[in-house]
Amino acid sequence: MMHFLLETFAQGLPARVPEPEMLMRDAAQVDAYAAQGRQHGFLAPLHLYHAIQASAFICPGDVVLDLACGPGNQLMQIARMNPAAQFIGIDASAEMLDQAQQLQACEAVDNLSFQRCLLPALEGVASHSVDAVICTMALHHLPDLAALAATFGEIKRVLKPGGRFYAVDFGRLKRVQTQRYLARQRKREWPEVFCVDYYNSLRAAFSAEELVGAARDVFGEQVELRQTHQVPLFVAVMSGPPMPVGATQQQLARAAYQVFDAKQRADFRDIARFFWQGGYPLAFAPWA
Ligand SMILES: C[S@@+](CC[C@H](N)C(=O)[O-])C[C@H]1O[C@@H](n2cnc3c(N)ncnc32)[C@H](O)[C@@H]1O
Repeated sequence: MMHFLLETFAQGLPARVPEPEMLMRDAAQVDAYAAQGRQHGFLAPLHLYHAIQASAFICPGDVVLDLACGPGNQLMQIARMNPAAQFIGIDASAEMLDQAQQLQACEAVDNLSFQRCLLPALEGVASHSVDAVICTMALHHLPDLAALAATFGEIKRVLKPGGRFYAVDFGRLKRVQTQRYLARQRKREWPEVFCVDYYNSLRAAFSAEELVGAARDVFGEQVELRQTHQVPLFVAVMSGPPMPVGATQQQLARAAYQVFDAKQRADFRDIARFFWQGGYPLAFAPWA
């Protein structure tokens, strides 16, 4: 709490420190990240949150591209909630794609395929071929603002006219101490490699202004910006206002929420409240 208060009143932004390794390829790093995204992992509530919010940009029959899908936990959650859409997960890390394919085989999610691809270029994805693009917690891996701009340019190229996007990532915080605190807040539960990874991600985050600026340069003023209250720990940019979430999506999200333990439910509600206080309500509440 103290860190959030200090963050609110701090001035200026520290310089961005790009990720030491752009791709996540190290076995320990990949395993730790994948494990935290599994059913009882720390990231599962965040995945359900973004699955609900991203679903407000997905319609039945859509082809949806997920940029930098990593080990696939987040993507699988979204694909399960949208069974009438087809998903393509892309990542440049063969190790991550291997994890994602193993998970897909275990979970028997069949509306999903994977492709190896190095952002910003979406090589092999035809122009105007997809209905929606999602990208979660990955843009901070890009080396610089030019790559961020090029990524939004490629999103525009592959989207059909009127296509939608939902991109969310960390925002750059003002205090290095807050970054350090967040990265180690559950250090007793997290492997060291996960803490280091989290810290590197926060240091590499673009600012909210950089994220929305890059999106608006390509898509214009229709782009909407949403962020967590006072402290832009999470920043979402989207192609326009969210659409209503369908009954099937709601039912599947409720089922996913039901299997959370008490701590995960509390984490989910904290994330939802943090965004809601920042002016971004949940598309619907899965506990209702
Ligand atoms: C923190 S993970 C996020 C994974 C997933 N989107 C999620 O929300 O859990 C970031 C992913 O971005 C991938 N990545 C980093 N730079 C990339 C690039 N230039 N092109 C494609 N994938 C990239 C990494 O390999 C890693 O799998």
